[in-house]
Order: sequence, then structure tokens, then C-alpha cells
Amino acid sequence: MASAPRMAGAGVSPVAAALTAEFSSDVVIGLSHTGQKELPSKYLYDEVGSALFDVICLLPEYGLSRAGMRLLQRDSHEIVSLLPTPVLVAELGSGSGQKTRLLLQALSKRQRVNYYPIDISGSALSRCQQEIGQMDRVSIVGFESAYLEGLQEVAARRQEGERILVLFLGSTIGNFDRPAGDQFLREVRKILSEGDALLLATDLVKPIEQLLLAYDDPAGVTAAFNMNLLARVNRELGADFDLRQFEHVARYDECERRVEMHLRSKAWQRVTIQTANQRFYLREGETIWTESSHKYNPAEVVEMGERTGFRCERQWFDAEWPFAQNLFFAV
Ligand code: AVJ
Repeated sequence: MASAPRMAGAGVSPVAAALTAEFSSDVVIGLSHTGQKELPSKYLYDEVGSALFDVICLLPEYGLSRAGMRLLQRDSHEIVSLLPTPVLVAELGSGSGQKTRLLLQALSKRQRVNYYPIDISGSALSRCQQEIGQMDRVSIVGFESAYLEGLQEVAARRQEGERILVLFLGSTIGNFDRPAGDQFLREVRKILSEGDALLLATDLVKPIEQLLLAYDDPAGVTAAFNMNLLARVNRELGADFDLRQFEHVARYDECERRVEMHLRSKAWQRVTIQTANQRFYLREGETIWTESSHKYNPAEVVEMGERTGFRCERQWFDAEWPFAQNLFFAV
């Protein structure tokens, strides 16, 4: 028999209970759509999902994270030389901390650094703590919260005369559609003051075949990463998704310039979410949209900054995998 799902109130911290309640309501809302069913991509990263994502980053087909690494390996010192000082560092999405380490290393040569990773995933934060925690002249305080709430808390800790550098290195901006991406940058800008900095990583437009392989690798790791979202709903919300009745789909929308991940139902089926007391039906061939990954042109990123209260100081490009790090200053 399957173990009982973790239920709110049953020896679970209030924070965990609130997160589960939010997860549950997001899942119910997304699956209740009369048109395209959806599940928010932020829920891909539980412990299993984060581990699978780490493997994705090792795949030859998925060049994105290696490109981000190469850029920071090559350009960290130059990036740091363009920053105001003293500066505190807030990171949206702590990731594995590898890229951040490169930047903090360069920055800590110049000043002591207070580093605040912000992530809704506690497991991501502890991994980050392990990677960064031992660094000389760097102190780390993690915030287990949504990006904007966490950033607000970090900004409240700003010392007199201190600037903020926000890192958004995961290329996670691509998960927002374009209007929502603008809106998100505007919200970030609102929390910041003039002269604060934002280092934004963006994956760039590239040939479709290359993109589709990156999001549908032959070894099936990305498929497992996508499928794990259903497994997570089963584990945490007591649902009965039969994973074998779904298949991973990656498609490119040329108009929107984005890769979409879906889970396609192989048959008519019914799904019950026990803890939410809800039932859903999927037709054969119907999909659940689980992620968008938008791809940008370099000039478009500059404009995105300009529309949202920033000016782009510089862009750095990777030669192997079209990808950019963009340094913005709040104006
Ligand atoms: C972590 C959001 C940058 O969109 O490329 C990887 C997530 N999804 N393979 C991306 C992801 C499928 C990734 N980001």
C-alpha cells in the first residue's frame, strides 16, 4: 500500500503546511482549466526534480548551464570591476551555487560579502549552503521564500551606503512568458534603488533542432524530470497519476520563441487528488503544459531592461552555446 500523503497539521511545520496548501491549490487550478491544462514549472524542483535537473546539466545536448558557467569563469573579474562597492549579494534561486561561487570568489577579493540566496526549496538552499558555506570572507544567510518576498527582506538589511547586486543566473526568467517577465523585472526594480545592479542570465535563440534535443534528450533524463512533477503530486497530495499513461513532449513555438514541455496523456483517464478531494479527466492526446523556456535575442534583452527601469551596462556572450549574461543597473 502507498504511504499516506503528508497532511497539513500532522506534525508538519506551519511553513511546510502553508507551502503544501499552496501547491495543492496551484495544482487544482491548473488542472481545472477548461482549455489547456497546466502545472506551474516551479514545482519541478523537489529533491528528486533538483537531482534530475543536475543530471540534465551534465547532458551534452543541454549546453545552457555549461555556457553560464563558462561565462562566469571567464568574466567574473570583469563583472566585479563594474560593480559599485560595497555591495551585498542577493540571489533569486540558489541553484547548485557553482556559478555563484565563481562570482563571490572574485568579489570577496575586494570586500567581505554578505550573500543571501532566496529559494522556495529548502533542499536547494542547503545544497547552496554546502557549496558556498566554507568560503573565506563570505557569510551566507538563506531565505526560504518566494523570490520577491525574499528580496524585500534582503533589501531591508541593506546598510547605509551599501548597494545590492541581484543575481538571477539560472536563466529562470525564461520560464515567464514575455509580459510576465517584464512584470517580474519591474517588481524587482521596485524593491531596488537607483544604482543597484542585476546580473541576468538569458538563453538565446538558436536552431530549433538544437533546442528540441536539449529539452528532449535521447537518454530520457528531461522526460524523467518532467514526469517527476506528476510523481510529486502523487507523493505530496495523495494523487493517483499513472505515469506510464503519459509521455514527455517538447515543442518549439516559433512565434513566442519558446520551448514548451508538456505531458501528453496516452489514453482517456481519470485522476483523483485525494487531499484536495478533486477529480480530473484527461482525453487521449490531451496535454498538461508544465514549462515554457523562452529564448531571446541580445537586443531584446537590452530593451527588456529599458522597459522595466534598468539600463544594460554590458552583455557577455558564450561562443559555443548562444547564451548571455547581462549586467543591468537600476535607473
Ligand atoms: C532551469 C529554467 C533554466 O528552462 O532550460 C531544463 C529548466 N527544463 N530542461 C530551462 C529545464 C528542462 C531550465 N531552467
